[in-house]
Amino acid sequence: MAPDKVLITGGAGYIGAHTLVELATSGFEPVVIDNLSRSSMRLIKGAEQITGKKFLFEKIDCTDVMQLRAVFEKHPEITSVIHFAAFKSVNESVEKPLIYYQNNLGSLMALLLAMQEFSVTKLVFSSSCTVYGQPDVIPVTELTPFKEPETPYGASKQMGERLLQDMVKAWKELQVVALRYFNPIGAHSSGLIGELPLDEPNNLVPYITQTAIGKRKQLIVFGDDYKTPDGSCLRDFIHVMDLAAAHVLALKSMDNFPQRYEAINVGTGIPCSVLELVSAFMNVTGVNLDFKIGKRRIGDIEQVYADPDKSRRLLGWEANRTVEDALRDAWNWEKKLAHDAD
Ligand code: UFG
Repeated sequence: MAPDKVLITGGAGYIGAHTLVELATSGFEPVVIDNLSRSSMRLIKGAEQITGKKFLFEKIDCTDVMQLRAVFEKHPEITSVIHFAAFKSVNESVEKPLIYYQNNLGSLMALLLAMQEFSVTKLVFSSSCTVYGQPDVIPVTELTPFKEPETPYGASKQMGERLLQDMVKAWKELQVVALRYFNPIGAHSSGLIGELPLDEPNNLVPYITQTAIGKRKQLIVFGDDYKTPDGSCLRDFIHVMDLAAAHVLALKSMDNFPQRYEAINVGTGIPCSVLELVSAFMNVTGVNLDFKIGKRRIGDIEQVYADPDKSRRLLGWEANRTVEDALRDAWNWEKKLAHDAD
Protein backbone atom coordinates (compact mmCIF):
# COMPACT_ATOMS: atom_id res chain seq x y z
CA MET A 1 0.00 0.00 0.00
CA ALA A 2 1.22 3.51 -0.82
CA PRO A 3 2.13 5.52 2.28
CA ASP A 4 -0.34 8.18 3.49
CA LYS A 5 0.57 11.60 2.14
CA VAL A 6 0.66 14.38 4.72
CA LEU A 7 0.90 18.05 3.83
CA ILE A 8 3.51 19.76 6.00
CA THR A 9 3.30 23.53 5.95
CA GLY A 10 6.46 25.22 7.23
CA GLY A 11 8.43 22.00 6.81
CA ALA A 12 11.71 23.88 6.36
CA GLY A 13 11.47 25.37 9.83
CA TYR A 14 12.91 24.15 13.11
CA ILE A 15 10.11 21.90 14.38
CA GLY A 16 8.85 21.10 10.88
CA ALA A 17 12.17 19.66 9.70
CA HIS A 18 12.58 17.46 12.78
CA THR A 19 9.04 16.20 12.28
CA LEU A 20 9.86 15.29 8.66
CA VAL A 21 12.41 12.84 10.01
CA GLU A 22 9.90 11.23 12.38
CA LEU A 23 7.21 11.07 9.69
CA ALA A 24 9.46 9.50 7.09
CA THR A 25 10.72 6.89 9.54
CA SER A 26 7.10 6.10 10.53
CA GLY A 27 5.95 5.33 7.00
CA PHE A 28 4.26 8.63 6.07
CA GLU A 29 5.04 10.50 2.86
CA PRO A 30 5.37 14.22 3.58
CA VAL A 31 4.53 16.82 0.95
CA VAL A 32 6.39 19.88 2.16
CA ILE A 33 5.45 23.48 1.47
CA ASP A 34 7.30 26.51 2.80
CA ASN A 35 7.84 30.06 1.53
CA LEU A 36 11.40 29.95 2.91
CA SER A 37 10.99 33.47 4.30
CA ARG A 38 12.36 32.48 7.69
CA SER A 39 13.46 28.93 7.12
CA SER A 40 15.98 27.10 5.05
CA MET A 41 16.33 24.37 2.46
CA ARG A 42 19.36 23.31 4.47
CA LEU A 43 17.02 21.73 7.01
CA ILE A 44 15.08 19.82 4.37
CA LYS A 45 18.33 18.58 2.84
CA GLY A 46 19.49 17.58 6.32
CA ALA A 47 16.27 15.66 6.96
CA GLU A 48 16.73 13.94 3.60
CA GLN A 49 20.26 12.97 4.51
CA ILE A 50 19.14 11.52 7.85
CA THR A 51 16.29 9.48 6.39
CA GLY A 52 17.79 8.63 2.99
CA LYS A 53 14.52 9.87 1.42
CA LYS A 54 13.77 12.66 -1.03
CA PHE A 55 10.88 14.86 0.07
CA LEU A 56 8.30 16.40 -2.25
CA PHE A 57 8.80 20.13 -1.82
CA GLU A 58 7.16 23.26 -3.19
CA LYS A 59 8.02 26.84 -2.41
CA ILE A 60 4.58 28.16 -1.60
CA ASP A 61 3.20 30.83 0.66
CA CYS A 62 0.59 29.31 2.87
CA THR A 63 -1.50 32.48 2.96
CA ASP A 64 -2.14 32.04 -0.78
CA VAL A 65 -5.24 29.90 -1.19
CA MET A 66 -4.73 29.54 -4.96
CA GLN A 67 -1.33 27.96 -4.43
CA LEU A 68 -2.71 25.70 -1.73
CA ARG A 69 -5.47 24.54 -4.06
CA ALA A 70 -2.85 23.66 -6.67
CA VAL A 71 -1.00 21.48 -4.14
CA PHE A 72 -4.13 19.57 -3.13
CA GLU A 73 -4.99 19.16 -6.82
CA LYS A 74 -1.56 17.78 -7.58
CA HIS A 75 -1.56 15.40 -4.61
CA PRO A 76 -5.08 13.98 -4.20
CA GLU A 77 -3.62 11.34 -1.87
CA ILE A 78 -3.13 13.93 0.87
CA THR A 79 -5.40 12.93 3.76
CA SER A 80 -4.06 15.12 6.54
CA VAL A 81 -2.12 18.29 7.28
CA ILE A 82 0.36 19.41 9.91
CA HIS A 83 0.36 23.19 9.98
CA PHE A 84 3.65 24.59 11.26
CA ALA A 85 3.91 27.67 9.03
CA ALA A 86 3.79 30.74 11.27
CA PHE A 87 5.85 33.59 12.66
CA LYS A 88 7.07 32.92 16.19
CA SER A 89 9.03 35.85 17.55
CA VAL A 90 7.31 37.17 20.63
CA ASN A 91 9.19 40.52 20.58
CA GLU A 92 8.73 41.11 16.89
CA SER A 93 5.01 40.49 17.21
CA VAL A 94 4.77 43.44 19.59
CA GLU A 95 6.53 45.72 17.10
CA LYS A 96 4.74 44.40 14.02
CA PRO A 97 1.36 43.07 15.13
CA LEU A 98 -0.17 43.30 11.69
CA ILE A 99 2.18 40.83 10.03
CA TYR A 100 1.59 38.39 12.90
CA TYR A 101 -2.18 38.45 12.52
CA GLN A 102 -1.92 38.48 8.75
CA ASN A 103 0.53 35.60 8.51
CA ASN A 104 -0.50 33.37 11.41
CA LEU A 105 -4.25 33.72 10.93
CA GLY A 106 -4.16 34.30 7.16
CA SER A 107 -2.32 31.03 6.57
CA LEU A 108 -4.68 29.09 8.82
CA MET A 109 -7.75 30.54 7.10
CA ALA A 110 -6.40 29.89 3.61
CA LEU A 111 -5.49 26.36 4.62
CA LEU A 112 -8.95 25.63 6.04
CA LEU A 113 -10.60 26.98 2.89
CA ALA A 114 -8.50 24.73 0.69
CA MET A 115 -8.90 21.73 2.99
CA GLN A 116 -12.66 22.12 2.89
CA GLU A 117 -12.73 22.33 -0.90
CA PHE A 118 -10.66 19.16 -1.20
CA SER A 119 -12.31 17.32 1.72
CA VAL A 120 -9.08 16.95 3.66
CA THR A 121 -10.40 16.50 7.17
CA LYS A 122 -7.48 15.97 9.55
CA LEU A 123 -5.35 18.76 10.92
CA VAL A 124 -2.58 18.97 13.50
CA PHE A 125 -2.09 22.59 14.53
CA SER A 126 1.03 24.10 16.13
CA SER A 127 -0.25 25.81 19.22
CA SER A 128 1.82 26.94 22.17
CA CYS A 129 1.85 27.12 25.94
CA THR A 130 1.80 30.86 25.33
CA VAL A 131 -2.01 30.52 25.15
CA TYR A 132 -2.10 30.12 28.95
CA GLY A 133 -0.30 33.41 29.70
CA GLN A 134 0.83 33.42 33.35
CA PRO A 135 -1.44 30.76 34.83
CA ASP A 136 -2.63 30.96 38.43
CA VAL A 137 -1.96 27.28 39.02
CA ILE A 138 0.93 25.21 37.66
CA PRO A 139 1.48 22.71 36.17
CA VAL A 140 -1.09 23.62 33.51
CA THR A 141 -3.63 21.13 32.23
CA GLU A 142 -5.50 21.62 28.98
CA LEU A 143 -8.45 22.88 31.07
CA THR A 144 -6.42 25.71 32.59
CA PRO A 145 -8.21 28.89 31.49
CA PHE A 146 -6.48 31.16 29.01
CA LYS A 147 -5.31 34.50 30.37
CA GLU A 148 -5.36 37.71 28.39
CA PRO A 149 -2.58 37.16 25.80
CA GLU A 150 0.62 39.08 26.55
CA THR A 151 1.55 39.62 22.90
CA PRO A 152 0.10 39.57 19.38
CA TYR A 153 1.95 36.27 18.87
CA GLY A 154 0.10 34.78 21.84
CA ALA A 155 -3.16 36.28 20.64
CA SER A 156 -2.66 34.77 17.19
CA LYS A 157 -2.31 31.30 18.75
CA GLN A 158 -5.37 31.77 20.97
CA MET A 159 -7.39 33.03 17.99
CA GLY A 160 -6.15 30.16 15.86
CA GLU A 161 -7.44 27.68 18.42
CA ARG A 162 -10.74 29.54 18.65
CA LEU A 163 -11.16 29.54 14.89
CA LEU A 164 -10.48 25.81 14.77
CA GLN A 165 -13.03 25.09 17.51
CA ASP A 166 -15.65 27.05 15.55
CA MET A 167 -14.74 25.17 12.37
CA VAL A 168 -15.07 21.78 14.07
CA LYS A 169 -18.58 22.74 15.18
CA ALA A 170 -19.56 23.84 11.69
CA TRP A 171 -17.82 21.17 9.61
CA LYS A 172 -18.83 17.76 10.91
CA GLU A 173 -16.00 15.80 9.29
CA LEU A 174 -13.15 17.99 10.51
CA GLN A 175 -10.79 16.57 13.15
CA VAL A 176 -8.25 18.85 14.81
CA VAL A 177 -5.46 18.29 17.28
CA ALA A 178 -3.91 21.48 18.67
CA LEU A 179 -0.53 20.61 20.15
CA ARG A 180 0.44 23.16 22.77
CA TYR A 181 4.22 23.14 22.68
CA PHE A 182 6.21 24.07 25.73
CA ASN A 183 9.82 25.19 25.08
CA PRO A 184 11.36 23.13 22.28
CA ILE A 185 15.16 22.91 22.39
CA GLY A 186 17.92 20.71 20.98
CA ALA A 187 18.58 19.24 17.59
CA HIS A 188 18.72 15.90 15.81
CA SER A 189 21.52 13.81 17.31
CA SER A 190 23.19 13.50 13.88
CA GLY A 191 24.04 17.22 13.87
CA LEU A 192 22.45 17.47 10.42
CA ILE A 193 19.45 19.56 11.45
CA GLY A 194 18.77 22.00 14.28
CA GLU A 195 17.57 25.49 15.04
CA LEU A 196 18.70 28.07 12.49
CA PRO A 197 17.95 31.62 13.69
CA LEU A 198 18.30 34.12 10.86
CA ASP A 199 19.33 37.06 13.06
CA GLU A 200 20.28 37.47 16.69
CA PRO A 201 18.36 34.75 18.51
CA ASN A 202 15.57 35.62 20.96
CA ASN A 203 15.35 32.16 22.42
CA LEU A 204 17.54 30.93 25.21
CA VAL A 205 19.29 27.85 23.83
CA PRO A 206 20.47 29.26 20.49
CA TYR A 207 21.69 32.30 22.45
CA ILE A 208 23.64 29.99 24.76
CA THR A 209 25.22 27.97 21.96
CA GLN A 210 26.07 31.07 19.93
CA THR A 211 27.72 32.63 22.98
CA ALA A 212 29.63 29.43 23.66
CA ILE A 213 30.94 29.28 20.09
CA GLY A 214 31.98 32.96 20.21
CA LYS A 215 29.33 34.44 17.91
CA ARG A 216 27.82 36.44 20.80
CA LYS A 217 29.77 38.15 23.54
CA GLN A 218 27.77 37.22 26.56
CA LEU A 219 24.47 35.68 27.59
CA ILE A 220 22.20 37.86 29.69
CA VAL A 221 19.96 35.94 32.05
CA PHE A 222 16.80 38.03 32.14
CA GLY A 223 16.11 38.44 35.85
CA ASP A 224 16.98 36.52 39.01
CA ASP A 225 14.41 38.15 41.27
CA TYR A 226 11.38 36.07 40.32
CA LYS A 227 9.46 34.12 42.95
CA THR A 228 11.10 30.84 41.93
CA PRO A 229 13.60 28.68 43.83
CA ASP A 230 16.69 30.29 42.23
CA GLY A 231 15.04 33.55 41.16
CA SER A 232 15.22 32.88 37.40
CA CYS A 233 12.19 31.93 35.25
CA LEU A 234 10.96 28.34 35.17
CA ARG A 235 10.17 26.60 31.90
CA ASP A 236 9.42 23.14 30.55
CA PHE A 237 12.18 22.50 28.01
CA ILE A 238 11.36 19.68 25.64
CA HIS A 239 13.69 17.99 23.15
CA VAL A 240 12.60 18.87 19.63
CA MET A 241 12.74 15.19 18.56
CA ASP A 242 10.34 14.24 21.36
CA LEU A 243 8.07 17.04 20.19
CA ALA A 244 8.36 15.79 16.61
CA ALA A 245 7.31 12.30 17.72
CA ALA A 246 4.14 13.74 19.28
CA HIS A 247 3.00 14.95 15.84
CA VAL A 248 3.29 11.48 14.34
CA LEU A 249 1.37 9.99 17.26
CA ALA A 250 -1.31 12.66 16.86
CA LEU A 251 -1.78 11.72 13.21
CA LYS A 252 -1.90 8.02 14.02
CA SER A 253 -4.30 8.23 16.94
CA MET A 254 -6.67 11.12 16.19
CA ASP A 255 -9.37 8.82 14.79
CA ASN A 256 -9.76 7.35 18.27
CA PHE A 257 -9.95 10.62 20.20
CA PRO A 258 -13.10 11.32 22.21
CA GLN A 259 -13.64 14.74 20.60
CA ARG A 260 -13.03 16.05 17.09
CA TYR A 261 -11.17 18.98 18.64
CA GLU A 262 -8.50 18.09 21.16
CA ALA A 263 -5.87 20.40 22.60
CA ILE A 264 -2.89 18.56 24.06
CA ASN A 265 0.05 19.88 26.06
CA VAL A 266 3.38 18.67 24.77
CA GLY A 267 5.85 19.16 27.59
CA THR A 268 7.89 17.00 29.92
CA GLY A 269 6.16 18.07 33.13
CA ILE A 270 9.60 18.80 34.59
CA PRO A 271 10.28 22.43 35.50
CA CYS A 272 13.79 23.71 34.81
CA SER A 273 15.02 27.21 35.58
CA VAL A 274 17.04 29.37 33.21
CA LEU A 275 20.02 29.21 35.59
CA GLU A 276 19.71 25.43 35.87
CA LEU A 277 19.74 25.19 32.09
CA VAL A 278 22.84 27.37 31.85
CA SER A 279 24.63 25.25 34.41
CA ALA A 280 23.51 22.00 32.72
CA PHE A 281 24.96 23.33 29.45
CA MET A 282 28.33 23.95 31.07
CA ASN A 283 28.33 20.50 32.70
CA VAL A 284 27.40 18.66 29.54
CA THR A 285 29.76 20.48 27.19
CA GLY A 286 32.60 21.46 29.49
CA VAL A 287 32.41 24.98 28.05
CA ASN A 288 32.61 27.86 30.49
CA LEU A 289 29.78 30.11 29.39
CA ASP A 290 30.13 33.86 29.86
CA PHE A 291 26.88 35.10 31.34
CA LYS A 292 25.57 37.76 33.66
CA ILE A 293 22.29 38.56 35.30
CA GLY A 294 20.36 41.35 33.63
CA LYS A 295 16.97 42.98 33.98
CA ARG A 296 13.73 41.11 33.51
CA ARG A 297 12.55 40.88 29.89
CA ILE A 298 9.19 42.57 29.34
CA GLY A 299 6.40 40.11 28.72
CA ASP A 300 8.18 37.07 30.20
CA ILE A 301 6.06 34.58 32.08
CA GLU A 302 7.52 33.82 35.52
CA GLN A 303 6.89 30.11 35.48
CA VAL A 304 5.04 27.59 33.38
CA TYR A 305 5.28 23.85 32.90
CA ALA A 306 3.00 21.15 31.61
CA ASP A 307 0.85 18.55 33.18
CA PRO A 308 1.60 15.87 30.57
CA ASP A 309 -1.15 13.46 31.64
CA LYS A 310 -3.39 14.01 28.61
CA SER A 311 -0.56 13.48 26.12
CA ARG A 312 0.18 10.19 27.87
CA ARG A 313 -3.45 9.09 27.78
CA LEU A 314 -4.40 10.20 24.27
CA LEU A 315 -1.13 9.91 22.39
CA GLY A 316 0.67 7.31 24.46
CA TRP A 317 3.48 9.88 24.38
CA GLU A 318 6.07 10.85 26.86
CA ALA A 319 9.37 12.64 26.66
CA ASN A 320 12.26 10.17 26.29
CA ARG A 321 15.11 12.64 26.20
CA THR A 322 16.54 14.82 28.94
CA VAL A 323 17.49 18.47 28.97
CA GLU A 324 21.12 17.29 28.96
CA ASP A 325 20.50 15.30 25.75
CA ALA A 326 18.95 18.39 24.16
CA LEU A 327 21.85 20.64 25.17
CA ARG A 328 24.43 18.14 23.91
CA ASP A 329 22.59 17.91 20.58
CA ALA A 330 22.18 21.70 20.30
CA TRP A 331 25.90 22.16 20.93
CA ASN A 332 26.81 19.51 18.41
CA TRP A 333 24.65 21.34 15.83
CA GLU A 334 26.20 24.73 16.64
CA LYS A 335 29.70 23.27 16.19
CA LYS A 336 28.65 21.75 12.88
CA LEU A 337 27.36 25.15 11.68
CA ALA A 338 30.64 26.80 12.69
CA HIS A 339 32.65 24.08 10.98
CA ASP A 340 30.64 24.40 7.75
CA ALA A 341 31.04 28.20 7.78
CA ASP A 342 34.86 27.91 7.88
N1 UFG B 1 16.17 34.06 28.36
C1 UFG B 1 17.28 34.67 28.92
N2 UFG B 1 18.22 35.18 28.08
C2 UFG B 1 18.11 35.12 26.71
C3 UFG B 1 16.97 34.50 26.15
C4 UFG B 1 16.02 33.99 27.02
O1 UFG B 1 17.42 34.76 30.14
O2 UFG B 1 18.99 35.64 26.01
C5 UFG B 1 15.15 33.49 29.27
C6 UFG B 1 13.81 34.16 29.11
O3 UFG B 1 13.75 35.33 29.91
C7 UFG B 1 12.86 33.06 29.56
C8 UFG B 1 13.58 31.76 29.17
O4 UFG B 1 14.94 32.14 28.95
O5 UFG B 1 12.74 33.10 30.93
C9 UFG B 1 13.05 31.15 27.90
O6 UFG B 1 12.98 32.16 26.90
P1 UFG B 1 12.73 31.84 25.34
O7 UFG B 1 12.77 33.12 24.61
O8 UFG B 1 13.65 30.76 24.89
O9 UFG B 1 11.26 31.20 25.29
P2 UFG B 1 9.90 31.73 25.96
O10 UFG B 1 9.67 30.96 27.19
O11 UFG B 1 9.88 33.21 25.99
O12 UFG B 1 8.82 31.20 24.93
C10 UFG B 1 8.42 31.98 23.85
C11 UFG B 1 6.91 31.77 23.65
C12 UFG B 1 6.60 30.43 23.11
C13 UFG B 1 7.35 30.23 21.89
C14 UFG B 1 8.81 30.35 22.20
C15 UFG B 1 9.61 30.17 20.96
O13 UFG B 1 6.23 31.97 24.86
O14 UFG B 1 5.24 30.34 22.79
O15 UFG B 1 9.09 31.64 22.72
O16 UFG B 1 9.44 31.22 20.10
F1 UFG B 1 7.08 29.01 21.38
